[in-house]
Formats: sequence, structure tokens, C-alpha cells
Amino acid sequence: MEPIHENRKRLELEYYGRESERDTLKWYHIAAKWVLELPFLLKPGRRNAGDVRLRRIELSIRSLPTAFDGCRILFISDMHLDGVSDWAERIVHIADGIDYDVCLLGGDYSFGYDASDERMRDQVREVVTFLVGRSQVFGILGNHDEYRTAELLDGLGVVMLLNENVCVERDGEKIFLVGVDDDFFFRAAELKKAGATVPEGACKILLAHSPDLYEQAARSDYALYLAGHTHGGQICLPGGVAVVSNARVPRRLIRGKWEYGGMAGYTSYGVGTSVVPVRFFCPPEVALLSLTKRDETE
Ligand SMILES: [Fe+2]
Repeated sequence: MEPIHENRKRLELEYYGRESERDTLKWYHIAAKWVLELPFLLKPGRRNAGDVRLRRIELSIRSLPTAFDGCRILFISDMHLDGVSDWAERIVHIADGIDYDVCLLGGDYSFGYDASDERMRDQVREVVTFLVGRSQVFGILGNHDEYRTAELLDGLGVVMLLNENVCVERDGEKIFLVGVDDDFFFRAAELKKAGATVPEGACKILLAHSPDLYEQAARSDYALYLAGHTHGGQICLPGGVAVVSNARVPRRLIRGKWEYGGMAGYTSYGVGTSVVPVRFFCPPEVALLSLTKRDETE
């Protein structure tokens, strides 16, 4: 793997330097907080946000090598561990109770953009140390992460995939896991570079923080696209209709299973929350993804 590169650090400094964008974000946050912190919304919303569940999902993948049929991925995204203190404990409890083959981390380990926050770092250490002790762990960065979080994770034994790929072998067969840096805020995703060394025709899985790259990924022959970022909407109306999608994608791609151009996709509901630690009609999750070989004669 490459060392945590200077490119992400430069992009972060450029982004934080654009005061107008920061002001817009600040006003949006203030408006959302004003509404969601009304006592009759805050209390049930917090309860919903703390109710992190294991969600079991089966994903049918084209070109999946037979050796990976039945492979189980523990997929954890958007932990935002500086939000609610119970989340770290809850994630460990869920992971401890199940069997899986590999763990993928979809980014957004914190909410506050501050990788020096020791409380957040302690919680990341608690979760990641446990996960690294159970299986190999691969991770990417989200739009709320700083390059220093990648350094922390790297030091804990997570293989960070920032615009690069890794070959995973099982019984002599191979799949390629490709990870890109955040596209949503930092515009740091380099899909072409990330997959450049993957052999033609190989089974490729993309790990990207947000689903925004779905068209490019389908054109680039990915078999599976795993994303988070949207929190499934986080604040939804009865029936699960998201108030804000928070991604530049069709609404059907903002949570759960989806399909685009023959590529399977899954967008996690995420563990944590943004802006205010509440959820409505959109339960938080740790996902256990079981891969199955798609019958391509159908
Ligand atoms: Fe997030």
C-alpha cells in the first residue's frame, strides 16, 4: 500500500480555506439543529439513533469466482464516533456475535472533522482494535475524515485504500477490492488510478464513501459497489421517504440494495448521524453482506 499521500492533505487545506462553503454549511446546520432539537423530537430521535442493528443482506454478484460464493463481508460505514458514546460498544457487541470473512470500513469515523479529538480517537481504537483481531480490515476515508484519521487507522492495522486496490485470494481464485478517496466534498476520488492495475475481466468490488460514482463504476465494469455517506436519509418521513438525500444520485441509490447497468450496489444506512444525533424511520445498521454467484444464464 502507498503511504497516506500528500494529495488528500492538500485537498483538505483547500476545502477548509473556502470560507463561503463553510458558511453555507454552518447555516444549514443551525437550521436543522433548531428544528431537530425541539424536545418532542430530540428524545425519540436519540432513542432511534442508538438502536444500531445487524442487517443481513444477500447480494448476487456477476463474475464472482466460485471460491467467493457465500463470502461474508462485515460492512460498517459512517460510525461518527464523536456523536453518541454508546456506538463503539454497540458495534463491538454486534461484530462479536457473528461470523464473517472480512471487514470493510466505509469512512466517516467522526463527525467533527477533528482527527485530534482524543475522545473520538479512543473510540476508533476500541472498535478497530477489536475488528483487526477478528479478520482482515480494509478502509477508506469519508467526507468527515481528515488524512490524520487514515494515519491512525493505518497504525491500528487497517489496510487503507486511498485510490488503490488489493487482490484478495481464496482457494486459488481472486477478486480485487478497489478503494477510492472521498468524492463528495474533497473530490479526491481517482477511480481510474485506483483500478489501473486490476487485470482485464477480473471481478472488481468498489468501496467508495458515497454512491456518487455509480455511472463511472458501471462503465468501468465493477461487479459490486459498496457505499455509505447518506445515512439512508437519516431523517425520513413515515414509509422511509428521506427528507434530504445528500448525494448526487437517483433516490433509489441512497440506501439498501440497488442495481445499475448490471452492477450490484449496496448503500449502507450507516451507524451514526450527522448534525443532530437523531433518526426517524431510518434505523442505523451494521451490515453483514453475503455474496452469492449470480446465475448469468437468467
Ligand atoms: Fe456520514
